[in-house]
Amino acid sequence: MQTKEIAQKLLLWYSKNKRLLPFRKTNDPYKIWLSEVMLQQTKMKTVIPYYKRWLKRYPTLQSAAETSTDSLLKLWEGLGYYQRCRNFHRALKIVASNYNGKIPSSFDDFINLPGVGEYTAGAVLSIAFNKPIPAIDGNVKRVMSRILGIKNLTLYNKRRIKQTIYKIIPTGNPGDINQALMELGALLCTPQSPNCTKCPITKYCNAYKLSKPELYPLPKEQKKIPHFIIVTGIIWRDSKFYIQKRDEKSMLGGLWEFPGGKIENKESLELALKREIKEECGIIPIIKDKIGCVEHSYSHFSISLNCFHCIESDEKIRFSKNGAWITHDEICLYPFPKANHKLFNLINKKGWHV
Ligand code: ADE
Repeated sequence: MQTKEIAQKLLLWYSKNKRLLPFRKTNDPYKIWLSEVMLQQTKMKTVIPYYKRWLKRYPTLQSAAETSTDSLLKLWEGLGYYQRCRNFHRALKIVASNYNGKIPSSFDDFINLPGVGEYTAGAVLSIAFNKPIPAIDGNVKRVMSRILGIKNLTLYNKRRIKQTIYKIIPTGNPGDINQALMELGALLCTPQSPNCTKCPITKYCNAYKLSKPELYPLPKEQKKIPHFIIVTGIIWRDSKFYIQKRDEKSMLGGLWEFPGGKIENKESLELALKREIKEECGIIPIIKDKIGCVEHSYSHFSISLNCFHCIESDEKIRFSKNGAWITHDEICLYPFPKANHKLFNLINKKGWHV
């Protein structure tokens, strides 16, 4: 394979066609790292306003390292995969304390930081430090599968992809080669309808030669995601209601929610709500009106989220450091999962009181 020619063609195409993305205007490794963390599993269009907002608040690594995880989660609210944010904060604190605030440019040191995997290490180190390391995300996997004529992404074929990129990456500007492959995947070599007439490297593309490049690689079998029925309660005490912070280790960890949980064994919504609130808050609430139900799909499951207005009985909710009593004006101070925001919209229409 003429890897040198491929590299030249990719770089020329990239210099003429790359999108002018905000993180392409900087050499600051902190900003490049932030963009790569946000872009994992999330679309470019969604990320850009979050990226800009974050850097306005925390323009330096030190400023982000010094703040609380809660303030960062509030900035992350709606972006999903909140573990990324918590890990990024842990990693920033380690860089601030163990590396004098300078992001390590050695692969072994960088990949050892929380949340940094092979892709992130390759992307950040190649773009910010010119290290000749591949950064293989979904787009790059697809582009390279087509070049090599790979239908099944077996371990052996993934290794072939990596080895080929190692040959394509010249020592001069590996960050641009990696980003050219990503950009090609995002703009031309798309999953369903690749625009081969505009592609700079069709000459070297096996999938193109074999026709029907969209068949490379074959899609992974989609797993059916489970659906859960959830019931939650807004428990009122005068003009305040009770919210609780989700366990750090759980899905949506560190975000806030109303107490409640999954329906078990076809029990009624009301029975399930009383059972869950008893388990979580130590009281059986008095259930008042049903507010309604919203539907939401997360990456690995979907939910029907039911909600009721409630009040405390004679017993009071036991104190918990993970609980807070807030007015509805204070919702904006706490990060909530997306499904809760749908619920807030519903309550905004219906009115906030019992
Ligand atoms: N996706 C993740 N990182 C990217 C980058 N640097 N350029 C284009 N797409 C990306």
